[in-house]
Amino acid sequence: MIYARIAGTGSFLPGDPVTNDDLVARGIDTSDQWIIERTGIRTRHLASAEMSSSDLATTASERALEAAGVRPDDIDLIIVATSTPDCIFPSTAALLQSKLGIRNGAAAFDVQAVCSGFVYGLTIAEKFIRSGSHKRALVVGAEVFSRILDWSDRGTCVLFGDGAGAVVLEAAEAPGILASALHADGSHHPILCVPGAVAAGQVVGDPFLRMDGQAVFKFAVRVLGDVALEVLDHAGVTIDAVDWLIPHQANIRILQATARRLGVSMDKVITTVDRHGNTSAASIPLALDFAVRDGRVRPGHRFLIEGVGGGFTWGAALLQF
Ligand code: ACO
Repeated sequence: MIYARIAGTGSFLPGDPVTNDDLVARGIDTSDQWIIERTGIRTRHLASAEMSSSDLATTASERALEAAGVRPDDIDLIIVATSTPDCIFPSTAALLQSKLGIRNGAAAFDVQAVCSGFVYGLTIAEKFIRSGSHKRALVVGAEVFSRILDWSDRGTCVLFGDGAGAVVLEAAEAPGILASALHADGSHHPILCVPGAVAAGQVVGDPFLRMDGQAVFKFAVRVLGDVALEVLDHAGVTIDAVDWLIPHQANIRILQATARRLGVSMDKVITTVDRHGNTSAASIPLALDFAVRDGRVRPGHRFLIEGVGGGFTWGAALLQF
């Protein structure tokens, strides 16, 4: 039997942290107190105009390759989860392949599942590896969400940040990924979307992120609890068998509500939303890499990742590190 396990993690955050007071100084009608009370966010990182998702992905990937002790050409599958690709095509994964100097013909494609994108990408990569068709995948979440924010909409622009996280997932004799589940329900698309498109050389429609915050909040808390329980059930374990919960970092109140529903104490929840804001598809691999590098997530530990995002999409996976 072939399984898939994480061999190394890496991440990258652009520039210096931008505080809530920095946003106020930039003219946004908000306050440090409002943002912290409603979201738990204290700082986020914002990429400069020259930096693209593939740039952030490149540094995160180099760090993951180094941690895994593998060379770029050892990778035979590249999946990038992003909603902020460098361009319409080629894929950000193909651009990342070029920037990493991978010349072995590795398959490369993007996954568009917004904030669930990394869970989708990891689950897809696992299926390639378990089929025997591929041996070693680079799975990346990379976003420059600051580009699709309406900086005059204080209800959304304070919530997000830019960054990238990456893992090397490779074939192994033991799991690895113990169970996973992916879901979507497109009927909820109006409560969180970037409705615009490009046609006839023009941006047609609204190019910025629009959100009904309270509807998103309720939906997120419900499905994050449900999908975590579904994956535990698939794996035949209870939450007591899990060392760490690593949820998508949308908002501290969503994390707290999910932890309460699952009966997990907050000291078992990896939390980076306070420092990174919501980095969409990058948030889970960023949080994982921070927890690996600070020594919390250690070999042998079991952790549950879970995400929810526009679409709506949602999913979870239980892993043994
Ligand atoms: N600073 C100050 N005041 C603000 C701000 C701000 N940044 N944004 C909104 N307000 C004001 C509103 O104008 C409103 O004022 P009013 O009462 O005078 O009209 C008041 O605050 C309350 O606004 P609400 O939108 O009702 O605030 P709410 O308590 O719902 O909090 C929030 C908003 C934080 C967005 C919340 O709904 C939430 O956390 N939703 C989840 C959304 C989320 O996490 N999205 C991430 C993307 S989806 C994902 O990743 C899963």
